[in-house]
Amino acid sequence: MQSLLLDFLKVTESAAMSALNWVGSGDKLAADGAATNAMREKLNRIEMQGRIVIGEGEIDEAPMLYIGEKVGSGNGPKVDIAVDPIEGTTPTVNGQSNAITVIAAAPRGSLLHAPDMYMKKIAVGPKAKGKINLEAPLTENIQAVAEAYGKKVHEVNVMIQDRPRHKEYIETVRATGAKVHLFKDGDVIYATATCMEDRDIDMFIGIGGAPEGVIGAVAVKALGGEMQAKLLPRDQSEIDRCIEMGLGDPGKLLTHSDLVNSEDCIFAATGITDNLFLKGINKNAHNYVTHSVLINGKDRKLHYVKSEHALLETV
Ligand code: FBP
Repeated sequence: MQSLLLDFLKVTESAAMSALNWVGSGDKLAADGAATNAMREKLNRIEMQGRIVIGEGEIDEAPMLYIGEKVGSGNGPKVDIAVDPIEGTTPTVNGQSNAITVIAAAPRGSLLHAPDMYMKKIAVGPKAKGKINLEAPLTENIQAVAEAYGKKVHEVNVMIQDRPRHKEYIETVRATGAKVHLFKDGDVIYATATCMEDRDIDMFIGIGGAPEGVIGAVAVKALGGEMQAKLLPRDQSEIDRCIEMGLGDPGKLLTHSDLVNSEDCIFAATGITDNLFLKGINKNAHNYVTHSVLINGKDRKLHYVKSEHALLETV
């Protein structure tokens, strides 16, 4: 897996460069199309037998990077791949912060095939691994995380996406005295940041996309933290979809191993717009400048990469 990381860097850098023209454009379809196209083109140059398990949708709704699509040269390691060519389409086309392009991968058969629906998620860093339980009250989780970090409850920092559906979580966290930090978009970024000690983020909780849940779970696993989740199908058709995708009991707690069943997993992301740990892509007279993060689960290493791309070489 590790040998694929530098190839994946080229994939996310290329997708970010392709998205740049659409930053602030208001055109979500065009932005997503450009990043998806670039990502697919670069993925197909990699020596691997890749299979998209989290992608742009079903084959009938997404022409590129659809679930089940084979990518790569057809030789080399058998890999399950989760992509989000633009995680944060709204901030991209509104020219706001918190957009990245991201890819995560693990050996064939080790990523959850998550349907495109909402998922409840909790993530913590390595020190609180083994201490959380999504099925327990949120107050108990906060107490457990405070103990794990040797903090007072009022020193615990919890990231929650700024959505009306999270009103109860926000009130519950504040009632304990712990601090709530709201973010607009990009829950992959905030789940991952729980594992970056210098960020002082102790917990991520909330309801967001299931595909983003699996991608975030790879980064958290690769950095030694823990994530748990639960799918939230809204109607019978979403329940049927879970069953079709092999999730017999859609309401069951998904442990970290259910989400990602291998330590040998990798994650690459490039900033489109500025965010918590990456600068957004920049273009000057001669170059594109990209900032990326590469995470490798086998040796729990995280690398930041700044690259300059001559304008001619672009996407
Ligand atoms: P998109 O890339 O699809 O715009 O997702 C951005 C995001 O903020 C995710 O990180 C999050 O899981 C999801 O949206 C939440 O969905 P909603 O915007 O419906 O609240």
